[in-house]
Amino acid sequence: MNNNSLFIVIEGLDGSGKTTISRQLVSCLETVFSKKVKQTFEPHDASCAGLFIRQVLEKKILQFSPETLTYAFAANRLDHCDREINPWLEKADHILICDRYYLSSLVYQSSKNHPFEYVMQVNQFARKPDLILFFNVSNEVCYQRMLHRNKPQELFEKDLSETRSKYFSAIDFLRTKRDENIVEIDANGTLQEVFDQVIEQLILLKKESWNEAQCLQLRSYKIQPENTFEITNNVSNNLENILNSFPHAPSPDIIHAHFTNLKHTDQAIIFLKILGQQGYHPGAKFARLPAQAFELTYNLPGGIVLQGGALILDSPLQYGTILESISVIEKMIHFLFVYVPGNPEAVNQYYERDLIQFSNGLNAIFPNIKIITEADIVNTLFKLTN
Ligand code: TYD
Repeated sequence: MNNNSLFIVIEGLDGSGKTTISRQLVSCLETVFSKKVKQTFEPHDASCAGLFIRQVLEKKILQFSPETLTYAFAANRLDHCDREINPWLEKADHILICDRYYLSSLVYQSSKNHPFEYVMQVNQFARKPDLILFFNVSNEVCYQRMLHRNKPQELFEKDLSETRSKYFSAIDFLRTKRDENIVEIDANGTLQEVFDQVIEQLILLKKESWNEAQCLQLRSYKIQPENTFEITNNVSNNLENILNSFPHAPSPDIIHAHFTNLKHTDQAIIFLKILGQQGYHPGAKFARLPAQAFELTYNLPGGIVLQGGALILDSPLQYGTILESISVIEKMIHFLFVYVPGNPEAVNQYYERDLIQFSNGLNAIFPNIKIITEADIVNTLFKLTN
């Protein structure tokens, strides 16, 4: 397939900065190849076996065999290829940046009894990347960056030196057995230093197709400060201004184009405002979350108040962020609306409860349903009588 698309994988230890750099890379490439750049990640929560993998990583599922996990990651990857990676890269000149891919499986799923050959065999149908960048960092830098993350340790974040040396063996394997294009990046420096190395590698790879002006523009990109996105509780003040900027009586296409061009903050304000119009009243901001979130309340007849939340993500849907946010909110919530910017392809509804529409036009999240079986009744009676 020679349509000049570009499939880049970023790999490295937890804390090597790959997620931050991927995000910045997308913003940078967008300046030159507008609307042709996409960011994704693995494990891909919205793909096959995504929920199983997430629960294993969070140590909620403890009983699993190494083979099951290897196949789960491989199935997750193939489905990710089928529904997201391949369709995107089939379009001419499109670029996709994936945070982790089969090199991670070679590193984390291989063992004495499961050599690289076995893990690669299971992953044989996954699309081959054009370039794999391995972010190498010292243990000290890794630990420092992970400290700032304020999130529980995941299953594989144990021995950095051992993981690093497995990375090198797996890289060697992929280079010799599959002639893969893998480049090591020194990721100990500042974000800008790391970023500049990455851009040089991309330019090297695409020297035949990117012109000088494009390369110059990419090289001059300056890392943008992260987390500048901030919404206060005073949502409604800004809404008028945003809506006034829309053309009069626009068609759906125009609304879509206009909305996607809005700043992320303004998109989020519209999201909150729409919820408000549906009867969900925004309240205080939830503190200490990995994303921005507001309390919502919904008044039912009879003075019953449902408590919920609105979560605003600033990058493609990562189910881990949602789970993490829910666990940090120290309140019982009945519903959660999540705003995910960008293309909805990554959203997979099997994680979600549906919306129902009442005859008065208002929407509500489909209620939680608990089915009471005969066994439940028997059980309850048993507890009551013992
Ligand atoms: P996650 O928190 O989603 O992302 P990251 O740590 O990259 O920000 O966790 C990914 C974890 O999944 C990481 O510890 C490595 C592991 N993993 C595998 O074991 N095999 C795989 O094939 C992939 C893609 C990831």
